[in-house]
Amino acid sequence: MTTSASIRLGRPGARAGSASTAVSLRGVSKSIDGRAVLSEVSVELPRGSFVSVMGANGAGKSTLLRVMSTLTGATEGEVRIFGESRGAAVRAKIGMVAHETMLYDELTALENVTLFARLHGVPGAASRARLMLEQLGVGAVAHAAVRSMSRGVAQRVALARALVHGPELLLADEVFAGLDVGSRELVEGVLTEAWGKGCTIVTCGHDVEQSLRLSERVLVLERGRLVMDEWAHRLTAGSLRERLGGRA
Ligand SMILES: Nc1ncnc2c1ncn2[C@@H]1O[C@H](COP(=O)(O)OP(=O)(O)O)[C@@H](O)[C@H]1O
Ligand SMILES: [Mg+2]
Repeated sequence: MTTSASIRLGRPGARAGSASTAVSLRGVSKSIDGRAVLSEVSVELPRGSFVSVMGANGAGKSTLLRVMSTLTGATEGEVRIFGESRGAAVRAKIGMVAHETMLYDELTALENVTLFARLHGVPGAASRARLMLEQLGVGAVAHAAVRSMSRGVAQRVALARALVHGPELLLADEVFAGLDVGSRELVEGVLTEAWGKGCTIVTCGHDVEQSLRLSERVLVLERGRLVMDEWAHRLTAGSLRERLGGRA
């Protein structure tokens, strides 16, 4: 964490509730090429939430995460991340793992993660980068170029990059896709640890059991609409599968 909640709470002009709300979307719609991809999505995620977004392919999960990242704008509605709608200060609080790993192919894993850490002014950037890679089980390939890596390895390097600056909000898009069992457990452990330190986490994926096990809250999108927002403990794998209509 780079700033304490108490500093933010005391900041003049802070919007009511902004200190305790990580993500606030109100009536968010997004059209791409005239087609509705998100329709009137409203959701409030308090700081420290762990949320899984589920839904069929094309339901709008990745777009929702990109809107939350402030990398892409909404066509309509209001997006507030820690009370702000855009800008470098809010981006610095966000870690994002997208479909595209956003890594430099020609650089090594360590160079990629260190570069990102330096950009964010992380003290001891290189050693922190190495530690993140080791925690994610990719320390052995720290000096390998990203272009030589399998999808599952590059994915974990991307997660190391997303977490190296201690973000307050982690957006992880299908971060478990294609991982072997051991790697999946490592990634689950790293996410749970970040959450334990207060990071708000929003993931999306297709594994019903894993979503219920890891997250506190589950959102379901259907053709861009938020059709379910429920506490994980109130769901069973069967009821969630039914809600997903077999299209998770
Ligand atoms: N950059 C884009 N250009 C055109 N269509 C897009 C773009 N991004 C997303 N879409 C469309 O928006 C819909 C939702 O996509 P996406 O958010 O990737 O869904 P999901 O992650 O749930 O599979 C899909 O129909 C997809 O084809
Ligand atoms: Mg997607």
